[in-house]
Amino acid sequence: MQYRFAPMEGLTDAVCRAAHRRFWPGAGSADRYYAPFVSPTKDHIVDPRRLRDILPENERNCGVPLVPQVLCKNAGDFLWMAGELAAMGYREVNLNLGCPSGTVVAKGKGAGFLRTPVLLDHFFEQVFAAAPPIAISVKTRLGIADPEEFGPLLEIFDRYPIAELIIHPRVQKDLYKNEPRMEVFGRALANTRLPVCYNGSLNTAGQIAAFARAYPAVQAVMLGRGLIANPGLVRQARTGVPTDRPTLRAYMDALYEEYAAAFGSRKNAVRRMNGFWNYSLCLFDGHEALEKRLRRADEPWEYEAVVGQIFAQLPLRQDASGVK
Ligand SMILES: Cc1cc2nc3c(=O)[nH]c(=O)nc-3n(C[C@H](O)[C@H](O)[C@H](O)COP(=O)(O)O)c2cc1C
Repeated sequence: MQYRFAPMEGLTDAVCRAAHRRFWPGAGSADRYYAPFVSPTKDHIVDPRRLRDILPENERNCGVPLVPQVLCKNAGDFLWMAGELAAMGYREVNLNLGCPSGTVVAKGKGAGFLRTPVLLDHFFEQVFAAAPPIAISVKTRLGIADPEEFGPLLEIFDRYPIAELIIHPRVQKDLYKNEPRMEVFGRALANTRLPVCYNGSLNTAGQIAAFARAYPAVQAVMLGRGLIANPGLVRQARTGVPTDRPTLRAYMDALYEEYAAAFGSRKNAVRRMNGFWNYSLCLFDGHEALEKRLRRADEPWEYEAVVGQIFAQLPLRQDASGVK
């Protein structure tokens, strides 16, 4: 099985990706890391902060391929961005057809692009007719409201040389709630000639193993919240070795220090770290006792004290099955 670290805005930036590779090297690293999306304007301007995040010189600890992701509905703008990314040395770009956010969907981008299959078809026709200098993968949901929308969408995807189709089998209206629609995923798998990567709610090594048994044809899974919650999940899935307290502590401390340095503010680093702890707390038994204090910790000294208590007092679980 191959493992991809999902793009997650506000979490899987260059700091997180590099730290993950450093603390979980070899079998513990993902095969590919995906950067949160960049969204080029029609004047071909990209938010400098987002661009900085994918500059190859910031991709420390090279050797593991990073795949940048683009959120875009205009073929010309997409091709421009793909050309820029190819010039930076990237070999693959991922098209975001999954973002469920209301503002994105209202613009017909992300999962909103799935509402207009004719436009999507036209987009791919223009993109692939231009012989893009870089492989194109797609990360998609099943549709807007009804999973049965996916049949006709898959027929469109299948007509193009898409390098990999990453399927998150929820519809836009599900957001991240409800169970992934596995029956529709299974049907899609049987009906496509494209290489498929599965994404959605694989949070433990046991769940990954059960998925691999149920879908032996699938060669790759993308892990998001489960891998944020338990950064040792890839190693555990590959080798059976669970995450240990010293490595987890060192990783969380390194993230905190590196964000403090990157933001020039420990207070901002605390806010960023709370995003990670939202998921990682469930790795600790009895975390409910410290959850409120951690969430309220605003000052660096408060944050550091609660994290110290978490690691000193709470038993570490073998898996993060409670991820939400
Ligand atoms: C906070 C957050 C940010 C996300 N940002 C992105 C993003 O930039 N691009 C994207 O394709 N998906 C994004 N996603 C979706 C994840 O990549 C993934 O598809 C989703 O979390 C489901 O997988 P999981 O159940 O393994 O977490 C985001 C999800 C969350 C919760």
